[in-house]
Amino acid sequence: MAQKIQAVKGMNDLLPVEQADFKLNAALWQAFEETVLRWTRRFGYAQIRTPIVEPTNLFVRSIGEETDVVGKEMYTFADSNDSLSLSLRPEGTASCLRAVVEHNLLYNAPQKLWYMGPMFRRERPQKGRYRQFHQVGIEALGFEGPDIDAEIIAMCADLWRELGIAEHLTLEINSLGNREERAAHRSALVAYLQQHEDKLDEDSRRRLHTNPLRVLDTKNPELQQIADNAPALVDYLGEASQAHYDSFKALLDGLGIQYKENRRLVRGLDYYNQTVFEWTTDKLGAQATVCGGGRYDGLIEELGGKPAPSIGFALGIERLLLLVREYGSLKAEAAPDIYIMQQGEGSTLAAMRHAAALRAAGYAVAQYCGSQKLKAQIKRADQSGARFALIVAEQEVADNSVTLKDMRGSHEQTTVPAADLTEQLKQWSR
Ligand code: HAM
Repeated sequence: MAQKIQAVKGMNDLLPVEQADFKLNAALWQAFEETVLRWTRRFGYAQIRTPIVEPTNLFVRSIGEETDVVGKEMYTFADSNDSLSLSLRPEGTASCLRAVVEHNLLYNAPQKLWYMGPMFRRERPQKGRYRQFHQVGIEALGFEGPDIDAEIIAMCADLWRELGIAEHLTLEINSLGNREERAAHRSALVAYLQQHEDKLDEDSRRRLHTNPLRVLDTKNPELQQIADNAPALVDYLGEASQAHYDSFKALLDGLGIQYKENRRLVRGLDYYNQTVFEWTTDKLGAQATVCGGGRYDGLIEELGGKPAPSIGFALGIERLLLLVREYGSLKAEAAPDIYIMQQGEGSTLAAMRHAAALRAAGYAVAQYCGSQKLKAQIKRADQSGARFALIVAEQEVADNSVTLKDMRGSHEQTTVPAADLTEQLKQWSR
């Protein structure tokens, strides 16, 4: 036998049934996608779909060269017929903004957009962390806030409510101020960290010179005290930034949305300013952040567009669904309404015709294909989870009838003329 080929490490197959090492299935995922379509519509956001591959430079310029995502985790390759460097997208914001600038979408109105799809980061795989993962992202472009900042938080809260997981998620917020405030804070932070340089680990010592804000994000338990006592950005906010942050919090208070202020929340991508936030859970182990985002007021301009203050977030679908699967209320509907079986001369065509008529009437119909005996077919009907089963055998073909079985209820098996079938199904469904 030829050797089997396996999927790339950290990239999962989504199957009709859960696997031991990847506890999600396609029906749950699909139910979630349907929820997302309703949810984005409810809030007046329009969908945007961009390519999965982009010029590498797009991510370098937006996410930042010194970030882990761009520095270590991108899948980058040269296009074979020219020297353009391409990358699989590690996130959706940069692509979304590239498209908005390229097509001049902000020409005469702000935009509220959403997207959903695979992203790629070469991280060390573990539960809740994959190399191909999926996000739903929201980007509100051309809005100064803080009303929109509160709107997108309310939007998250609305989704958690609908999925039945609100009680398992905590909102953490912070403000990163504007560019000048960040520069002033950076100088103070570097000076402070230099005083403790001998105690820093290798990673933090490197970041001290490249991306000192990220030292505050350290997971190293020995550095927690140093990070806790470091100068915090919120103490460097000027009047306007402070007013923005205060109004944002007042709106959350007014909406009854609870939050924790986390002075060390900095996010892992470079484009953020002012409001940043994360929704975390204590139910998923180390990969606790289900959703994160914030303002990126300067990014559109950096990508060649006219200045347009903006905010957005992305949620990790795998992490969210691992939580939903365990604690949520999302119903995954995979079973057909009707399973149709056939046996004997002329029964295949008759069964296919009945199936077509039932589908046209709005039923989901799975048809048995093959030549096993009825007993084996009934087993399949049962496995399918269908509520009803139909038998089309020689007798039914001869007198144009069908035999109807109630697989989940207590109605007696009955044979009815084909013309009466939908009426009979309606009666049994009541
Ligand atoms: P991010 O924090 O890098 O932000 O990713 C958002 C979410 O994607 C994370 O909270 C997590 O749930 C999920 N995620 C990230 N990496 C992985 C991974 N390797 N495996 C599984 N899930 C993962 C962004 O991507 C920004 N573009 C969000 C944003 C939109 N900010 C403004 N607009």
